Amino acid sequence: MADPAAFAFARSDFPEGFVFGAATAAYQIEGARFGGAGPCHWDSFAATPGNVVRAEDGATACDHYHRWEADLDLMRDAGLDAYRFSMSWARVMPEGRGAVNREGLDFYDRLVDGMLARGLQPWATLYHWELPSALSDLGGWRNRDIAGWFADYVTLVMRRVGDRIHAAAPVNEPWCVAWLGHFLGLHAPGFRDIRAAARAMHHVLLAHGTAIQAMRALGHGNLGAVLNFEYAAPVDDSAAARQAARLYDAIYNRWFAGGIFAQSYPEAALAGLEPHMPANWQDDFATIGEKLDWVGINYYTRKLIAADPASPWPRLREVPGPLPKTDMGWEIYPDGLYHFLTWLSRVAAPRLPIYVTENGLAAATPREDVERIAFLDAHVAAARRAMAQGVDLRGYFVWSLLDNYEWAAGYEKRFGLVHVDFDTLERQPKASYHALRAALAG
Ligand code: FCB
Repeated sequence: MADPAAFAFARSDFPEGFVFGAATAAYQIEGARFGGAGPCHWDSFAATPGNVVRAEDGATACDHYHRWEADLDLMRDAGLDAYRFSMSWARVMPEGRGAVNREGLDFYDRLVDGMLARGLQPWATLYHWELPSALSDLGGWRNRDIAGWFADYVTLVMRRVGDRIHAAAPVNEPWCVAWLGHFLGLHAPGFRDIRAAARAMHHVLLAHGTAIQAMRALGHGNLGAVLNFEYAAPVDDSAAARQAARLYDAIYNRWFAGGIFAQSYPEAALAGLEPHMPANWQDDFATIGEKLDWVGINYYTRKLIAADPASPWPRLREVPGPLPKTDMGWEIYPDGLYHFLTWLSRVAAPRLPIYVTENGLAAATPREDVERIAFLDAHVAAARRAMAQGVDLRGYFVWSLLDNYEWAAGYEKRFGLVHVDFDTLERQPKASYHALRAALAG
């Protein structure tokens, strides 16, 4: 029988050079109150009743700002090859534009050197959601100017650390930035407004493109996009449910892959969003579609979708599914990862190298951590099946190294390979951490 405390895979099952890493994000771990960072829209979103569990914010988080060396040691000791981290716009430019916080730049400079000293490839994300409040005041993602502001910030940080960055992606999960934050209102800035959403859906991709151009202009290579994908399954076999699932897929998955790789948006999504789009949006695809070197897929779950004819467009709703769920209430569905890997490789972004840039689960199991091991194992197996079908998958990053600030869920949901006690901030590697170390060494 399989040992529940061990992974079924080993590093030797993968091609030479396959990258194993862990991922985190600045606001979720650093501690935003340290080191002169400016306020961001997550601070005010969290301070508004009803948005975040216990109104928790990222002020202290895991205090990675002071404990980064020990955290990098944990990754080196696990035998990981790479660290996918993010840099905070609000830390580097507290007002989003203009004045630079030297201390913030110095922090990332040390951090990147610390990775190299430990043999970890630095994989940088330039925006993982902490929009400086001063830019939020100017309309944030609703304002087209954000594409220029973002490119300026990206130029500033990459001038400083870019010479040592192994790979970079501008924006983590554009769907969350645009749709979750401006249509569903579940993430900062918390809008529930189709016009705001349509603008953010477009501007987030435009900013992706201007950031890619800015990094190319500095001479950087190995640039990609990190997109999140959710498998959309119709709740039943009716034509209405199938159409609703198709539309969910268009908004969630195909909008972003379509914009970047095909320079077009899916018709089904445009049917609802077009009247709310910014002027001349069709002219931006040359920028949005800047050539990339790789695509990253963040994958967690699937959704069951039903038609909801009584509500306005998109006239659909999510229905609780029957599969086992994680602590987030997300169904466990590794076949969805296989689906998106093969779809990207054959249809959406043919021949582009792919990385799984996030995969993991929230599970509170304190000691055995068997659920995390089983979840990761099942998804790694799905990834290997895709590779056996010819998918050019080059790496896999676990979300996350540490238990951390899980956005609207506060500190309640534990995604880490390493347990964090949020009173003492003590780190304690979980069984999944030890199992991963054994798999990578063996
Ligand atoms: C992703 C985010 C990441 C984390 C995981 C659970 O959507 O990129 O910050 O919250 O989900």
